[in-house]
Amino acid sequence: MTVVKWSEWYEVGIPSLDLRHWNLFNAMNRLHEAIHSEGGEKQIPLALDALFGDILTHLREEETLMVAVDHPGASECRTEHHQFLEQVASYRSQYKRDPTRARATELSTALVDWLMIHMTKMDIQFVNAVKGKVEDRWAEVWCCQAVSA
Ligand SMILES: [Fe+2]
Ligand SMILES: [Fe+2]
Repeated sequence: MTVVKWSEWYEVGIPSLDLRHWNLFNAMNRLHEAIHSEGGEKQIPLALDALFGDILTHLREEETLMVAVDHPGASECRTEHHQFLEQVASYRSQYKRDPTRARATELSTALVDWLMIHMTKMDIQFVNAVKGKVEDRWAEVWCCQAVSA
């Protein structure tokens, strides 16, 4: 059961970032499945924790890359990340107070909407900044080095 289907259209052309995004798609689908499958509600908190963890790791990595590449839109993008993380924290506590399928669905929809729009609008800009800094074929190596530095 999928809520989002990965396709080439979402690829930014840097394998490690595409892998992170692909993992986020899988985590979103696992949450969706937990919400909608019979008896799956016990899996919802686990699926949520996994998705939140993946989101946090991914946004931190992107922020490291944006600083390293001196991305002109870094501060706008960071602000968007931080506002989203605040929203995520609030959704999380709402779900803890009211752990229902309805609340989880609301939360899942908001996460999917934000991630899809952000990935295709904001992420692509800093990926272009990376590609403007190093040749396409070195972009992956450069990103891996910048994140692990
Ligand atoms: Fe991203
Ligand atoms: Fe991002």
